Amino acid sequence: MARKQKKPLDLSAYAVPRHVAIIMDGNGRWARKRKLPRIAGHRAGAENLRRIINACVEFDIQVLTIYAFSTENWGRPEREVQGLMNIFARVLDQELDDLHAQGICIHHLGDMSGVSQNLQEKVMHALELTKDNQTLTLNIAFNYGGRAEILHAARAILSDGVSPDDLTEELFSSYLFTGGLPDPDLVIRTSGELRVSNFLIWQAAYAEYYPAPAYWPDFGREELFEAIVAFNKRDRRYGLVTEGADTNTS
Ligand code: FPP
Repeated sequence: MARKQKKPLDLSAYAVPRHVAIIMDGNGRWARKRKLPRIAGHRAGAENLRRIINACVEFDIQVLTIYAFSTENWGRPEREVQGLMNIFARVLDQELDDLHAQGICIHHLGDMSGVSQNLQEKVMHALELTKDNQTLTLNIAFNYGGRAEILHAARAILSDGVSPDDLTEELFSSYLFTGGLPDPDLVIRTSGELRVSNFLIWQAAYAEYYPAPAYWPDFGREELFEAIVAFNKRDRRYGLVTEGADTNTS
């Protein structure tokens, strides 16, 4: 069978966000639409990651952060939680060598202490193997919550004995799981939902939010391109005013 041709997508006229963060939402609804169990939606979502990682490399995005499992997701049925753990382990088993060969540097955001020893070891191995790679930094937020991350940073700052007068935004940022990385420019949430859901709540202070209508397994390279085009139409003011605005001095 002939392979589907990749549509040429030209970003040369656009500013490409350095850091894109994605709330991969809609796996359950994707599965329900097909009368499949929810876990089939998560499996399709994991497969979609490969397409999006490739598209990020193609578009020259430097950092991709994906929200794979939140601190709140422990409240889901045991079978689904276990299924998500298994999917993460399988992604690492099956994709790690290719990701490494592609120059992907894997980071973990969150607390791995709550997950099995086996999964912890796989994650540690992936971080160690890929730590010097430079094509794309892939942050996998797993057992991650923005408030928990801020608390974790605050505790570390206190235990390091940082004096209140020395505490700046830059220093605080360096204690977050994303320390040393640029803040996200663009946060995409698939499936049309408009919530922040405890994702990068410090780092995304000045990010542009983009709700994509597609469920995550259907959010592909072309949808990512559209999100970048939409990002380019935003007027990022960082609390300032647009040049030339309100010039009527009378
Ligand atoms: C939200 O959709 C999605 C999740 C909670 C899990 C996302 C996980 C993956 C895409 C695969 C795992 C990848 C790695 C690397 C571990 P939902 O289940 O809330 O969808 P719904 O709102 O339609 O029910």
